[in-house]
Amino acid sequence: VTGAGVRREAIGRYTTLGVGGEAEVWTVTDHAQLAEAMSAPYRILGGGSNLVVADEGLTERVIRLAGQFASTDLTPDPERSGPEHGDPDGLVTGWVGGGVPLPGLLRKLQRLGYSNLEGTVGIPAQLGGAIWMNAGTRFGETFDGLHSLEIVSPEGTRVVTPDDLNWSYRDSGIPRNHIVTRARLRLRRSTPDAVQERMDAADTARKGQPKNRTPGCAFKNPTLPDGARAPAGRLIDEAGLKGSRAGNAMIAPEHANFIVNLGGATAADVHALLNLIRERVGVPMELEYELWP
Ligand code: FAD
Ligand code: EPU
Repeated sequence: VTGAGVRREAIGRYTTLGVGGEAEVWTVTDHAQLAEAMSAPYRILGGGSNLVVADEGLTERVIRLAGQFASTDLTPDPERSGPEHGDPDGLVTGWVGGGVPLPGLLRKLQRLGYSNLEGTVGIPAQLGGAIWMNAGTRFGETFDGLHSLEIVSPEGTRVVTPDDLNWSYRDSGIPRNHIVTRARLRLRRSTPDAVQERMDAADTARKGQPKNRTPGCAFKNPTLPDGARAPAGRLIDEAGLKGSRAGNAMIAPEHANFIVNLGGATAADVHALLNLIRERVGVPMELEYELWP
């Protein structure tokens, strides 16, 4: 026994939507505990900000990263930073844990005047979850600020760079259940004011998003036959679905690509609205959320 914390708990409490039944939660603080947790079927939980967990819960273990996987070293690595590495203002940090909450990390980077990741402001993820799905906004995405990542899977531990991965919009190319345990950030020296200004611009674009409990946008913005990307929110809105309800879940009146929990919603309510959207919107759209299981 390596000392990982194991408890049976409702998973909804770890998610921004706030729905979902019970599972065995394994909170791991180092690689030995992580290896033990991975010895039976598992899922890896980040900030829970993109998840719809089933009302009946999960049979797999749910792994949460803590301890060593939640530590932050933003010290520029002298071996990899500075003019001799191409960019006089470029720097590569020490390791930042996959379990580190992204909002607090961005706050630290802003104070230091370190740029490249500020476009992801407002995303309530952990660094590992943001990397796994290359979370982003129109102002930037997570892969804008990555130097290298450590990934642990049942096959072992490897360190890769973004060039090794087939990443794109909202997709890192990292296989499911391969765990991003930590990353080095690739940043540029700027000033706290300049970084803050870009954060403010990205924040402003969020003004129309709902304030209720939600797992963010339900669908990815689809690519139309002419190659242009159409906003899923506009398509759902044009189908007349804003304000539609199933139980205590609702398609947000503020923005149609958000389903919100009005209080006491179930996963079944959310599934009903996702099905309604799929039936009524003529364009095929890929789900952005994850449905567990
Ligand atoms: P979770 O929701 O916990 O998990 C999502 C997936 O990532 C799961 O498959 C999980 O297994 C995997 N995962 C989590 N951690 C790791 C890890 N360490 N290693 C490997 N896999 C892992 N998204 C955007 O892209 N842009 C936005 O602007 C945006 N705005 C949002 C606003 C709100 C209010 C909310 C609630 C969500 C928003 N989202 C947005 C969605 C969400 O924040 C992102 O999808 C985010 O990447 C999810 O990260 P997480 O850590 O919460 O992961
Ligand atoms: N629109 C409507 N009706 C609606 C919603 C939107 O007509 O109900 C229109 C807007 O008027 C606008 C267009 O659709 O012309 C785009 O809307 P918005 O500016 O809100 O951007 P988005 O494409 O819907 C994307 C990301 C968000 C991110 C914002 C801001 C996706 C799926 N969504 O939204 O990310 O926060 O840009 O950068 O790419 C997420 O991924 O979970 C997420 C919240």
